[in-house]
Amino acid sequence: MKKQVANFTSCLQPMPDLLVSCRGTNGENNALAVAYAGNCSFDPPMVMVGIVPSRYSYPMVKETGVFVVNLVPQALKEQYGYLGSHSGRDENKLEKLGLKIGDGEKVNAPLLLDCPVNIECSVVDSIKTGSHEMFIGKIECVHANEELLDADGNIDYSKIDLLKFR
Ligand SMILES: Cc1cc2nc3c(=O)[nH]c(=O)nc-3n(C[C@H](O)[C@H](O)[C@H](O)COP(=O)(O)O)c2cc1C
Repeated sequence: MKKQVANFTSCLQPMPDLLVSCRGTNGENNALAVAYAGNCSFDPPMVMVGIVPSRYSYPMVKETGVFVVNLVPQALKEQYGYLGSHSGRDENKLEKLGLKIGDGEKVNAPLLLDCPVNIECSVVDSIKTGSHEMFIGKIECVHANEELLDADGNIDYSKIDLLKFR
């Protein structure tokens, strides 16, 4: 197989299609689509999400130091596209879409209840990598729809019809 040099951007694939939800210091809820993200520690369990500083969500996460990562089902494709292309600066996107919100148990940020798995995180560090600031989130609590769990509390991810946005 002959190789050629290819473009460098976004070359780790597949990228996840996540929704990161957050709450401003004024209590305002918001969420944005995030693909620059991944697991980054097994023990203690941590994830990282990349947020561009110009996003309305950015100061919310920066100031509160908490966020929720929501795994997105295929059924929310349209809403995902909206949350990833409209800003909370202009409207309350979650209210507009009629998405159900719950409160985090451990962190003061909203859970997107239409998503089957919600991961509450507190920021332990962040790194400005370039276009994005990567927020390292220690997992404080994970909520999953009960039909996804086995007797030991493990999530059967194969039961989730995860969104493939692109
Ligand atoms: C598939 C997809 C992936 C995205 N990934 C990211 C990302 O990783 N980080 C980011 O800051 N914005 C990402 N965005 C863009 C934001 O979701 C988008 O700018 C959103 O409108 C920001 O909302 P906000 O201003 O309310 O925070 C992505 C958008 C889409 C459609």
